[in-house]
Amino acid sequence: MDIKRVGVIGCGLMGSGIAQVCAEAGFDVLVREVDETFLKKGLGKIDAFLAKGVEKGKVTAERKAEVMGHLRGTTALEDLADRDIVIEAAVENIALKREVFQALDGLLGKDAIFASNTSSLSITEMAAVTRRPERFVGLHFFNPVPLMKLVEVVRSPLTAPEVFEAAYAFALVLGKQPIRANDTGGFIVNRLLVPYLLDAIRALEEGVGSIEDIDRGMVLGCGHPMGPLTLLDFVGLDTTYFIAGIMFDEFHEKRFAAPPLLKRMVQAGLFGRKSGKGFYDYGQEPPRPMSQLV
Ligand code: CAA
Ligand code: NAD
Repeated sequence: MDIKRVGVIGCGLMGSGIAQVCAEAGFDVLVREVDETFLKKGLGKIDAFLAKGVEKGKVTAERKAEVMGHLRGTTALEDLADRDIVIEAAVENIALKREVFQALDGLLGKDAIFASNTSSLSITEMAAVTRRPERFVGLHFFNPVPLMKLVEVVRSPLTAPEVFEAAYAFALVLGKQPIRANDTGGFIVNRLLVPYLLDAIRALEEGVGSIEDIDRGMVLGCGHPMGPLTLLDFVGLDTTYFIAGIMFDEFHEKRFAAPPLLKRMVQAGLFGRKSGKGFYDYGQEPPRPMSQLV
C-alpha cells in the first residue's frame, strides 16, 4: 500500500506530535483543527519542539525548515479527501470520534486507511460507523510522540490483514517500534498503566504519602523516568478521567474507576501541565506541589 499523504485530526498534545513525526518521515501532512486559534497553537507546539531541538544541537535549522515544509493546517474536514491515511487524535469521546469517521467515510478514497489514536475506546465501534470497517485500525502513539518509541497497532475483528500490516509498516517508517494488540479497552499498555496511575491518586487521597514522596518513591525505587502524579499531569487529567470512565464501563472493575479526587480536579479545571496546574503548579520552575488537594 502506497502511503504518501497523511491526514491528522486534532492538533493538541498528541495530534501535534503525530503530525510532527509524520512530517519528519517525509510525508505530506495535513492537520485539521476545529478553529484557527487551536490550529495556530498546535502548529506552534511543533515549531517550538523543533526550535528546542535546534537549541540542543539535535536538529539543524535547515532540517527544521524542511520538516515544517511538509506540514499544513486546515479547519475544513473536506480538505482531507485526498489523504492515503487519516489518523484521528481528537478528544477521547466516542460520539465525537464516530461523527468524524462517519464524515471521513463519505470523503476518503477507496484505498484510504482509517486510524484512531484512541487510548481506550473501541476500534471496532468506530470502524462500524464506516462502510469499510476492514480498512480501520488503531494506531496508539505515546506521549511525547516525538520521543517515545512505541506505537500499539490495534486490529478489530474486522480489520483486513493487509491493512493491519500496512499500518504496522507505516509505524516502522515513522521510526517507531510497533507492537500488535487486539481491540480490548486500553489495549496492552493502558490496561497496565491506568490502574497504576489511578492507584497513585488513591494513595494520595488516603494519606499514604505526599505528592512529592509518591513521585519520588517510584522514580528512585523503581527507576521510572517520572513519578505517577507528574505523569498524570503530563498526560492530562481531563484525558485520564475520560479514559478511566471508558475502561470502567468496559471491565466493571474497581481498579479502573476514577477516584473522587481526579473528578474534583477535572471539575476545578486542574488538567495538569496543559492548563498550568494539576498535582503541581507549573507557574514556577521547578513546579511546586499543589496544596489543598486533600
Ligand atoms: N528535539 C530533539 N530532541 C529532543 C528534544 C527536542 N525538542 N527534547 C528532548 N530531546 C531529546 C534529548 O536531547 C534527549 O536525547 P538524548 O537521550 O540523546 O540525550 C532525549 O530527547 C530525552 O530528553 P530530555 O533529556 O530533555 O528529557 P528526559 O530525559 O527528562 O525525558 C521523557 C523526557 C522522555 C518525557 C521522560 O521523562 C519519560 O519517558 N517520561 C515518561 C513518559 C511516559 O510514560 N509516556 C507515556 C504516557 S501514557 C500514554 O502516552 C498513553 C495514553 O494513552 C495516555
Ligand atoms: P488534547 O485535548 O490535547 O487535544 C485534542 C484536540 O482535538 C484539541 O486541540 C481539540 O480542539 C481537537 N479537536 C476536537 N474535536 C475535533 C475535531 N472534530 N476535529 C479536529 N480536531 C478536534 O488531547 P490529547 O491528549 O492530544 O488526546 C487526543 C487523543 O489521543 C485522545 O483520544 C487521547 O485519549 C489519545 N491519547 C492521549 C495521550 C496523552 O498522553 N494525552 C496518549 C495517547 C493517546
